[in-house]
Amino acid sequence: MDRAKLLRQLLDSMKVEYVMEAHNGISAKIAQNAGFKALWASGLTISSSLGHRDCNEISWTNVCDQVEYMVDATTIPIILDGDTGFGNFNNVRQLIIKLCKYQVAGVSLEDKTFPKINSFKDGKQQLASIDEFCGKIKAAKDTQTNESFCVFARTEAFILNHGLEEALKRAYAYKEAGADGIIVHSKKQTIEEIELFCSKWDYSIPLIIIPTKFDLTPFEVYSRLKLSLVIWANHLLRASMIAMKNTAKELFNNKCAKSIKNEIATIEDIFELVNEKEWKEAEKKYLLNNV
Ligand code: SPV
Ligand code: MG
Repeated sequence: MDRAKLLRQLLDSMKVEYVMEAHNGISAKIAQNAGFKALWASGLTISSSLGHRDCNEISWTNVCDQVEYMVDATTIPIILDGDTGFGNFNNVRQLIIKLCKYQVAGVSLEDKTFPKINSFKDGKQQLASIDEFCGKIKAAKDTQTNESFCVFARTEAFILNHGLEEALKRAYAYKEAGADGIIVHSKKQTIEEIELFCSKWDYSIPLIIIPTKFDLTPFEVYSRLKLSLVIWANHLLRASMIAMKNTAKELFNNKCAKSIKNEIATIEDIFELVNEKEWKEAEKKYLLNNV
């Protein structure tokens, strides 16, 4: 089924759906195999997995290349973290054309200026004007070639300490501009700002959160707050960093794999993940006389 339609079904499900971060083909496959029904192509983890910072150092076409591998590796909807749209409304249009071509199901656009800076980084960050950002949302909606494609508007009002009133003003303006859902982001260690936002939100379009900083929240809270999607935005990369660090250290120190043998995947595990079995079957069909 069309992935954007599948994403719409998740949004309509009347229950909280959880979305897992991925940054390349293998992490996307692992997330789908774990049972997740949708993926978040994270700006932070795509750029850091390529050895870069999360501030638009990676070009938008490089990002799309990574997402294309993720699409090839999976069958579930993928939402791209489109940062601030990689420029102005026109860059947003180019992005949306490519995402629809690649069967990406949706995009998140955030209301800061270009180049974006990661939400949890100290330093100069600025909100875009509401009018400019609404122009980007309209441009995205007018450009999509798949009618089910979702454009999510993400407000960073709390991130930049502008408070509840500003966050709500922006969310309602983005809804009017045509957004298919609102992502409200917070850097607090608890879910308090999101709860505050929810107490004043009319739920006329889906509400989505990214609990990177408050990921110890009990999951019952998410349904009480009537959230549509909860995005685990970076946990796979963070897990693999620790595993890679330990393995590198052990092999460097011991020059023998004994201490980590049971901690690492086997070669057969890799073959299974990339479906080597299918190739064997295909050989029987196409490699006649086994030559
Ligand atoms: C990302 O995954 O790049 C995000 C989410 O924007 S967060 O890093 O939690 O801000
Ligand atoms: Mg991001």
